Amino acid sequence: DDSVVRRDRFSGGPARDFLSSLAADERIFAADLAVDRAHVVMLAEQGIVDGDDAGAILAALDDIEDDGHGALPDGEDVHEAIETAVIERVGPEGGRMHTARSRNDEVAACIRYRLREDVLDLLETVVDAREQLLAVAAEHTETVMPGYTHLQPAQPTTVAHWLCSYEEALARDTGRLLDAYGRVNQSPLGGAAFAGTPFDIDRERTAELLGFDGLVENATDAAAARDFLVETTAATATLATTLSSLAEDVVVFASKGHVDLADDYASTSSIMPQKKNPDTLELVRGRTGDATAGLEGLLTTLKGLPRAYNRDLQRAGRHAWDAIDSVSESVEVAVGAVATADWPEAVLAEAAGDGFATATGVADLLAQAGVPFRTAHELVASAAADSDDPGFAELDAASEDVLGESLTAYVPREEVEAALSPAESVAMRDSRGGPAPEAVEQSLSRATEALAAD
Ligand code: ARG
Repeated sequence: DDSVVRRDRFSGGPARDFLSSLAADERIFAADLAVDRAHVVMLAEQGIVDGDDAGAILAALDDIEDDGHGALPDGEDVHEAIETAVIERVGPEGGRMHTARSRNDEVAACIRYRLREDVLDLLETVVDAREQLLAVAAEHTETVMPGYTHLQPAQPTTVAHWLCSYEEALARDTGRLLDAYGRVNQSPLGGAAFAGTPFDIDRERTAELLGFDGLVENATDAAAARDFLVETTAATATLATTLSSLAEDVVVFASKGHVDLADDYASTSSIMPQKKNPDTLELVRGRTGDATAGLEGLLTTLKGLPRAYNRDLQRAGRHAWDAIDSVSESVEVAVGAVATADWPEAVLAEAAGDGFATATGVADLLAQAGVPFRTAHELVASAAADSDDPGFAELDAASEDVLGESLTAYVPREEVEAALSPAESVAMRDSRGGPAPEAVEQSLSRATEALAAD
């Protein structure tokens, strides 16, 4: 009786559940069916399995697909369970499906096949997020806001410039994911256990049928390599880190009343009735831990594994899936929160000058008029030391001290006064990539082109 034979193959006694990855393999159920189909078609084309048997196996696979993962018989993993289900439907001839392959190349092919889809989905989410950030930025090129270093008021900037800084980081995250995708998308199928097969298989054909771009050439590397998971998870963790900074900025802005989150993205307190908290963004920040844990877990699982296949590998994929699932949601929530938030323009403009944030602009103005920058810096610093909010009078007094003459010997009073205004301070900084509205317009069009190319 076949079923007795099949059940015996799934050994383990009390460790059966421990050995089995069947439940977690639901993620690669569809991938395994695709890999099975490609392999069977190739075996038939190569005359390794006859057409009738191949047809029966393919029909059984359709039937198994219709029944779904939940209907699979018991097994060590999805590969074994599907083979068992094929044999149940086709009889012993169904067992020809596993000619010239091993679960080792099979599972590697399944993970790559499924991961491709996950990476593409994540990429779509990131590209969509970038689109949203650029759209919001386009509306806020003139919305002046405070800019910080060390969380201290530094120089006025704009909401658009701040948003573009994250869009550009997300563009690099996109690049890293695309780069990883190229190496995910290589077929290990046909490597068999690790050492090839005597059958006259056509590896290029299965790769083509499965949409892979090329082969993992060496049969041992094909079965053993999981670095494609590492780089995908690393790119995901890097993306999560970008998002965590965005989230942290918004949490800080919200604490100062510099942004008003839409109710959809805010949370309240069960006791303090007045509270509106940025919990969604704190969770985005927190989920960075899921992604970095995934990377750490994966690297630890893989470290020091000997060639070729070892069962530890059964624990590798989940780290990548967990990281990707967690971070995909983070992208949507973080960018949704930013895109729906209200930026209180008057409050931001007022705050943009706090802490004498226009100081650098005044020093730049003097340096443009020929004063050595270090001397200009000293002059403005001396005015700042004497007053929290120096105006022309204080700066002029500092000029008498440092330069021995009035500021107006270098720059007309109106220009100094203009430089003290946050909006003017922003407008002055029109260097490429700077926050002046025209500079941001140009950056926006470059970013929009780059986005279209991705
Ligand atoms: N389920 C396993 C995995 O996910 C594949 C099984 C290979 N098993 C083996 N004993 N060679 O890695």
